Amino acid sequence: MVKPRVYVTRTLPSPALEILKECCEVEVNLGEEPPSKRELTDRVKDKHALLCLLTDSVDGEVMDAASDLRVISTYSVGYDHIDVEEATRRGIYVTNTPGVLTDAVADFTWALLLGAVRRIVEADRYVRDGRWRVAWSPTLLMGCSVYGKTLGIVGLGRIGMAVAERARGFNIRILYYDIQRPPLEVEQRLNVEYRPLEELLRESDFVSLHVPLTKETYHLIGEEELKLMKKTAFLVNTSRGAVVDTRALVKALKDGWIAGAALDVFEKEPIEEDSPLLKLSNVVLAPHIASATVEARSRMAEIAALNIVSVLKGEKPLYLVNLDVLNVKSLEKVKMI
Ligand code: GLV
Repeated sequence: MVKPRVYVTRTLPSPALEILKECCEVEVNLGEEPPSKRELTDRVKDKHALLCLLTDSVDGEVMDAASDLRVISTYSVGYDHIDVEEATRRGIYVTNTPGVLTDAVADFTWALLLGAVRRIVEADRYVRDGRWRVAWSPTLLMGCSVYGKTLGIVGLGRIGMAVAERARGFNIRILYYDIQRPPLEVEQRLNVEYRPLEELLRESDFVSLHVPLTKETYHLIGEEELKLMKKTAFLVNTSRGAVVDTRALVKALKDGWIAGAALDVFEKEPIEEDSPLLKLSNVVLAPHIASATVEARSRMAEIAALNIVSVLKGEKPLYLVNLDVLNVKSLEKVKMI
């Protein structure tokens, strides 16, 4: 039997490679940078599986180069970098790593929210820059209260729900918007109230985005939406940069349509050197690290590898994105080990 060949686009935390090496021949891109499109297309040619990151754009062209590719496993929950429809059409299984990063992202959402609202990054800079000259000042770096306010969660999936669960200690009223409403008992357990998006934006003191990037959510938050928000409100984005229209957000932050923002994701990553966001003090910026805990990243690595092994064993993987693929090519047909 041929040993399956796997291309891994970056060195991953343990135990991803160890798991794969038990039953596959593994080729890893050892560089710090993502492989170029050409490199990726070249490397996948003779492979049966691809383990990629969210920075690798896996489109029909890449798939065409790999005539025997059976599974694309992404080391991320988001899969907007993969043309899932094209994969399904070709009978390629697409898998991801949800669940295990939910808590890390929810924790980080709160860290960003508190960081922006209580001006923690500004305070840190103030101290390090040697500007702290008076022992205690009655009005220095005043933020606003988080306790008792209203949080609007856009996208009540796993992560949105975990953010809601963490709100309890802050005695926060939670509104949510989603295209799908969960059963009433879920709303009751989480103590969340449904609002159409416009109403949520009008009523919330903090708006946190937790939707996947799709055609429908591209620039979901633009000029019109930002203008609906309170002048005192904050926007937090740990989903995907393109869910927000950056140009509109910059205007909103500069012209005071909203009070501030906290962003872990950007339309262009890494952020452009001349991005106006870098000059604004009312925004907290992070380099797409919401899931970056040792615990989450090693579980993601394990699951990304196990997803590949399952498909190649002809077993349903833990997290299959394109369920329809089962009707295009059966697991029996993709089985190699
Ligand atoms: C991170 O953004 C992920 O999709 O896992």
